[in-house]
Formats: sequence, structure tokens, C-alpha cells
Amino acid sequence: MGTPLLFQPIKIRDVRLKNRIVVAPMHQYAAVKGYPTDWHLMNVGRFAAGGAGLVFIESTKVERRGCGTAGDTGLWDDSYIEHFKRLADFIRSQNSIPAIQLGHSGRKARRFRPWEGGAPLTEEGAIKAGVDDWDDWELVAPSAIGSSETEPIPRALSFGEIQKTIENWSEAARRANEAGFDVLEIHAAHGYLLHQFLSPKANLRTDEYGGSESKRMRLPLEIAEAVRGNWPKEKPLFIRLSVEDDAGWGPDESVRFSKLVKEKGVDVVDCSSGGMRGSPVISAGPVGYGYQVPYAEKIRKETDLMSMAVGLIVHAEQAEEILQSGQADLIAIAREFLHNPNWALDAALKLGVEEAFAVTPPAYDYWLEKRFNSVKDVVPSTYFPGSDNGDFKI
Ligand SMILES: Cc1cc2nc3c(=O)[nH]c(=O)nc-3n(C[C@H](O)[C@H](O)[C@H](O)COP(=O)(O)O)c2cc1C
Repeated sequence: MGTPLLFQPIKIRDVRLKNRIVVAPMHQYAAVKGYPTDWHLMNVGRFAAGGAGLVFIESTKVERRGCGTAGDTGLWDDSYIEHFKRLADFIRSQNSIPAIQLGHSGRKARRFRPWEGGAPLTEEGAIKAGVDDWDDWELVAPSAIGSSETEPIPRALSFGEIQKTIENWSEAARRANEAGFDVLEIHAAHGYLLHQFLSPKANLRTDEYGGSESKRMRLPLEIAEAVRGNWPKEKPLFIRLSVEDDAGWGPDESVRFSKLVKEKGVDVVDCSSGGMRGSPVISAGPVGYGYQVPYAEKIRKETDLMSMAVGLIVHAEQAEEILQSGQADLIAIAREFLHNPNWALDAALKLGVEEAFAVTPPAYDYWLEKRFNSVKDVVPSTYFPGSDNGDFKI
């Protein structure tokens, strides 16, 4: 049997991924004044050691106001570079490729952490969380419209502030490169600032940055161009979109936008959904395995871009089938890596990859291989084919 597609290397620009398994960006809510901590090193370290080809650092904010919670990471100052370099270096030391997502929460900034309820943060809550710049942590957006009637009203960015925002994104890209990341992703999904600009519901501006579809696309496109200008041409640039948001932005808009963003030097569209009116997206119907995969398929088939599928991709056979059927080029996994940081090893065993244990570092590989060869009737705790003992459907 040949090597499964999931474990075949892929080259994007000059960066070679050893396999097509990507750890999706996942906020840890554990930063201190934007600086990543030992927690972040441990977190990405185990995914990299677990065998993923590409490991993303969470949505890292390009400016202070863009932080979603008191625990968001940031890259708005050069003093952050060395702290992120530690993470990138460790990922690379595990023969994986370090990636980072850049973001700005816009009107969805300044909230309690999800497990604290996720509501808009109060000044009292902020002080408790160690925030000492409450007055500067302002909600900004394309227009002074809240996410819903009960949500806080942001302040509309002025034309001049928009120019500054573009600069913030491109400076953060420069810092990400200096920190040693090889892949960068622009977060334009999930109802955050760039998605707010794309959205006919959130962006009611009457200047060059709002109104018609092309004007709503203008800021994300200018940011993509500015980021590319500060990001080496040999390194891939991804963008995450809510391909369907159930609030006036859908797959056709996403295809049109993807074609334009390709001209700015984007290589991969990371195909997510929702966030403008709550998540996950409603039009996908009841959410099940691979519910966003059709979006990745559409982008891949209707543009010249590579696509990354994400969302309830849980099983090795499911991931392999998505690649084999040409629905996506890369498989991003979030929560299942929380469940099993050695997901790539598990997948290698289930898909029959030769020397599967070598997906992990020698300190694991040696012992697991030895156990496998010496104790024949012991199977790993994760091992059973497919899900539901075989009746799993994609
Ligand atoms: C703890 C956690 C944090 C997340 N943080 C981010 C993030 O920083 N940026 C982002 O674009 N998506 C984020 N997501 C969404 C995931 O990247 C992913 O799209 C989503 O969880 C669906 O994939 P899954 O079913 O494999 O978990 C987060 C998800 C989780 C569970």
C-alpha cells in the first residue's frame, strides 16, 4: 500500500510540510499582557511532538485594542518577538513547521474568557484579570453597530485609523517573520474585524471602505497586500474566511473575494464559517462530521487557490477521504488535537503508514515500537478503525 495522501509531503512556495495535518489556531486565553507563557510552549510543543506537519499559534492580535480577552496573545510591539521565537523554535525542533494566525477582534473585543461566560468584560473583571489600560481598550469596528441589540456598540474607525490598522497588520507580519514563523494566516472570519468589514450587516460605511461589495472587500485586500509586502515571498500566506456566515456573506462572495486575495499573494484559504450571528453556521444544517468541508471544496474547485478544510474532522479515514476526493489540500484539526495531541500518530497507525511510530520523536518512537513488536496482543487505547465501530459516514 502506498503512503496515504494525509502523510504525503506538500510544498507551498518554498515551505515543505512533511504531511498534510495542521493544528488549527486555538486561543489559550493564557497570555500575560499579550506575552505568551510556558503554557503556550507546552501546548504547541505537544502538538508538534505529536506529529502534525504544521502547527498554528492562536489568533495573535496586531494591536492592543484587538484583544478578545485579557489572555489574548499580541504582536503589536518588537518586545514580543523573542517570546514567540521560543515557540517557533520549539515547533521547528520537532520537525514541524511553525505557523501563526494574526487577528483583531474589532467589536468582539474585551470579553470574559469563554469559561467565565464570554460576556462583555466589566471594568471590575478587567482589574481582577490584571488589566491596567482599561480606558484604551476600546471596541472599534467599521460602523457603530453592535453584534446584536444587547451587545456593546463599537466606535467606527476613521479613515486615518484604518490606514494605521493596515500598518499594524503589516508590522505584525514583519515581527512574525523575525520570530521565525514560516506560515502566516490572516484571520478574516468568525465575526472579527476583517469579517466585520466584509459584512453587509456590520459595515454600513459610506466612504471607500463600505457600501458596495468591492468597497467592503477593500480593507481586507489592502491588509493582505500590506502583509504580503512584509512577509517573505518564499513563505506561504493563508487567510481564514467564514465562507458562509448566514448574515449576507456566503460561498459565492467568498469565491469572488478569494480570487482577488490571490492576486495579493495569498496561497491557501482556510475555510471556516459563522461568527457574525453566532456559531456554528446555521445554513449547514445540523452540524456533523466535516460540516464545513463543502466550503473548502467549493473554494478549491472555483479558484486557483489551495484550500484547507476544518471543522469536526475527527477520524483518520475521514481526513484521508477528504484529500482523496479532492475537497481540500490540507486538513486542519482543533478539538481532536486537544483530545489526543498524538492524533497524527494515531492516524498513521490507522492508515497503515510504514514505521508509524516514527511520526513521534525518538523518546516516544523507541518505546512504542518496542512495545508493539514485543507484546502482540496489546493495542493502543485509541485504536479502533473509523468511528462508531465502522458505521461512520462523511
Ligand atoms: C479552544 C479553541 C480556541 C480557538 N481559537 C481560535 C483562534 O484563535 N482562531 C481561529 O480562527 N479559530 C479558533 N478556534 C476555532 C478552531 O480553529 C476550529 O476552526 C474549530 O474549533 C472547528 O474545528 P474542530 O471541530 O476541529 O475543533 C478555536 C477553537 C477552540 C476549540
